[in-house]
Amino acid sequence: MTAPRQSIPATTSAEYTADVDPMDMLADPPAALARLRAQSPVVYVPAMRSWWVTGHAEVLDALSRPGEFGSRMLDHITYLSGRNVLVDDGEHHRRYRRAMAPTLKPAAIGRHTARIIAPVVAEAIAALRDRGAADLVADFWEPVAVRCFAGLLGANDLGEATLRRWYHSLALGAANFMHDEGTAEQARATSEEIDATLLPRMRELEEHPDNGLVAHLLAMAAGATLEERAADILPTIKILIGAGEQEPGHAGSSVLAGILTAPDVRSRLLNDPDDGLGDAIEEGLRWCPPVQAISRYTAVDTTLGGVSIAADQWVNLSLQGANHDPAVFGADAAHFRPDRDLTGRFAPLAFGGGLHMCAGASFGRAVIRAGLLGLLRELPDLALDPARPWSFTGFGFRAPGALWSTWRVV
Ligand code: HEM
Repeated sequence: MTAPRQSIPATTSAEYTADVDPMDMLADPPAALARLRAQSPVVYVPAMRSWWVTGHAEVLDALSRPGEFGSRMLDHITYLSGRNVLVDDGEHHRRYRRAMAPTLKPAAIGRHTARIIAPVVAEAIAALRDRGAADLVADFWEPVAVRCFAGLLGANDLGEATLRRWYHSLALGAANFMHDEGTAEQARATSEEIDATLLPRMRELEEHPDNGLVAHLLAMAAGATLEERAADILPTIKILIGAGEQEPGHAGSSVLAGILTAPDVRSRLLNDPDDGLGDAIEEGLRWCPPVQAISRYTAVDTTLGGVSIAADQWVNLSLQGANHDPAVFGADAAHFRPDRDLTGRFAPLAFGGGLHMCAGASFGRAVIRAGLLGLLRELPDLALDPARPWSFTGFGFRAPGALWSTWRVV
């Protein structure tokens, strides 16, 4: 473990400015973020018109001060067409969270595992078993995550292809930091398609409410007409679609990549998949947080890590940077090591923290766990295919691009 950093004296932002080419950040995000942190865990990047916070202590500190580091709609994600759970810190946010709680609270997860997750995983494994080889990102984790979320949303009939297209388009829009007009237009069109598809379902649900996620959101929605109530909750449903369909698949892929590349862990888990699986999942989430950074705006003139930041500044809290901070996770932070102590002050931040901490963390962990158990137990001699090497891809959202793997057909 390296020595704690010395605190940085209060200063003006000009002294903490990083001359970074955004293309370098896109090309190798972990390396670029490590370079930023080496300069200062809180720096301004003019080329991206935003601050970047890459230290674990500094990210935690910002998350604990929502009055100073508040949430706000970013100008590149206005396609969501309205206020949503992520960009409100007040009463609306509390209402959205209360409405999601009956479906997403930890106590509800056992029911979802039995009714939704286990059958989805069993079906996906059955489709793979006789193949002997597949890309486990495209052929397992993505469909599993999408189908599990569809079950939660009560939207199985929409079909996997539509739901996958929706989340891919929403995710590209959310990560459109470079303001590409084509990407923005596609995200807007997807957003409108979701509105048009879900509105008639909401009419039906208001007449015959079930006990599901959308019905709970509708019950607390503000507005005199169905159209107004739908407009109140549709942006939040799009956040749920983007997060719920994408992140468990990304995280499951990263954890699996870690397990299959770490020789001692791999053999232990293959012999006894239950032993240490929880630790491997937490370490995988630390190693490659699927959501790489979360955005905040300074509501007032403030300081972070001793660095002065004026009001009204866009501040990116890098979860990747925080989770690889050598001051907390040691010199081998870039490596997957499930015996790492991730408790107390060493807790990683893949699910964010504070007011907006992930609402679907328990559901996400349950999907990852069930998927890993299925793969490790049911596909004998599962191994990555050395002929088709894998790598992490993505800047805003990150995961292995593909995981070509083989197993023994019995
Ligand atoms: C491994 C899987 C997941 C990861 C790593 C993840 C990560 C995150 C992160 C980092 C945030 C905080 C964003 C911020 O503070 O700006 C967040 C928020 C959120 N996530 Fe997740 N997520 C995952 C799965 C899910 C799932 C499965 C759902 C829904 C079923 C979900 C729903 C949400 C919602 C609604 C929020 C907004 C919470 C709020 O603003 O109060 N997430 N997630």
